[in-house]
Amino acid sequence: MTVSLHRATADDLPAMATVDGRAFGIDYSDQDLTDLRLILDPDRFVLARDSGTTGGGTTGGGATRGGATRGGGDHAAEGEIVGVAGSFPFAITPPGGAPIAAEGVTWVSVAATHRRRGILRAMLGDLHAGYAAAGTPLAVLTASEGGIYGRFGYGVATTGRNVEIDRSRAVLRADAPDPGGVRFASTAEVRERVPDIHRRWCAGQPGALSRPSPWWDFALLDRPHQRRGGTSRFHLLHADGYVGYRLDSGVCRVVDFFAVTDEARIALWRVLLAMDLVTTVATGAVADDDPLRWLLTDARAVRTTRVGDDVWARVLDTPAVLAARRYAVDVDAVLEVRDPDGYAAGRFRLRGGPDGAECLPTDDAADLALDVPALGAIAFGGTRVHTLARAGRVSAADPAVARRLDAACTAEREPYAGTHF
Ligand SMILES: CC(C)(COP(=O)(O)OP(=O)(O)OC[C@H]1O[C@@H](n2cnc3c(N)ncnc32)[C@H](O)[C@@H]1OP(=O)(O)O)[C@@H](O)C(=O)NCCC(=O)NCCS
Repeated sequence: MTVSLHRATADDLPAMATVDGRAFGIDYSDQDLTDLRLILDPDRFVLARDSGTTGGGTTGGGATRGGATRGGGDHAAEGEIVGVAGSFPFAITPPGGAPIAAEGVTWVSVAATHRRRGILRAMLGDLHAGYAAAGTPLAVLTASEGGIYGRFGYGVATTGRNVEIDRSRAVLRADAPDPGGVRFASTAEVRERVPDIHRRWCAGQPGALSRPSPWWDFALLDRPHQRRGGTSRFHLLHADGYVGYRLDSGVCRVVDFFAVTDEARIALWRVLLAMDLVTTVATGAVADDDPLRWLLTDARAVRTTRVGDDVWARVLDTPAVLAARRYAVDVDAVLEVRDPDGYAAGRFRLRGGPDGAECLPTDDAADLALDVPALGAIAFGGTRVHTLARAGRVSAADPAVARRLDAACTAEREPYAGTHF
């Protein structure tokens, strides 16, 4: 075994970027690395190093299906970096509850020369153990491929949707509200005012991911390569909402859209749909249940071009996650959670309702059994218990209890993350 795991240091970033760039097809410039240091905390990253390599991407060969062992003396670590994984510190909003801490797993890659030897498994094992030891109840990620993360306990918690709005057909109904209050703002004003609007939006939006303060500095750098052929970012500001967008050959590409109130949302939509010379408004930045269609005379003006998994959640602490949310109706059920890695496993009595919830270990007989990815899928109201039961992912001793849990877990709004990472 020549592969071992080490905590990253600030000096490792260029080599980490090389591994990430090879996996995802990115050329990181020196400026990119400087920018990334704003948001990337090396302490949150684990590296797999192969001390059997001599540099230049040799095939190593020492690592086996056993993956990698934890190495000591991180600062003196040697060997080529052959695997990278880490996280951003987020919080995520459960339905009706206050945001809970969640590590946002990111920058996951293993060198093509070292694939399928258990290095990803070892790195995630190391990260999850660290999160659990720190008392973080949840890990989340967005997945490059759908087949990787279920085995590590992740389930699809929120859905992403891309839409294209044909401006020539997008006529607002005569009785649609016209609250106004939107104006253009400078980047400096956005930096000052929008983080608070975003915080307020997160508080009421299930599945919303918080943005650590440096995230705003990073996003608003607006480097040319972030523009993907479009203009720099324009800003529409409302006291309770924000839209960031770019123009690109007649297409308005919305990159950020959040509104604390429906008035702000409608006011922002009105301005987006009022731009002369724009043929299409395109965005992936709206929730599945955005009311736009219902504001238009022709709902078909809004065309969905993609629907798919967005944020995946891996529950590490079942009582913390289930007690953090509110439930649409009162529920009292005993859940048996299966988790091969142990973190979320156990039998728990969940008592919850619209005003609060508690979830405690119990020896009582289970009403329902489910695996940990299924728990991640229902935790934010994104997937119905009933749907998972039909797939055999939730089994219920008493169908009436399953129906009750199904009704209880449904959230008032579709969970939606609003931040891609
Ligand atoms: C995905 C990736 C990180 C996997 O790394 P790896 O070290 O080869 O993975 P491991 O050997 O630890 O595999 C662990 C398990 O996941 C499975 N697995 C790994 N990659 C998979 C994939 N792309 N699709 C389906 N299953 C996969 C393995 O078969 C293995 O399954 P098992 O242990 O249940 O039998 C690596 O292939 C890679 O860097 N890909 C390109 C970048 C990428 O997609 N990163 C993910 C970003 S979200």
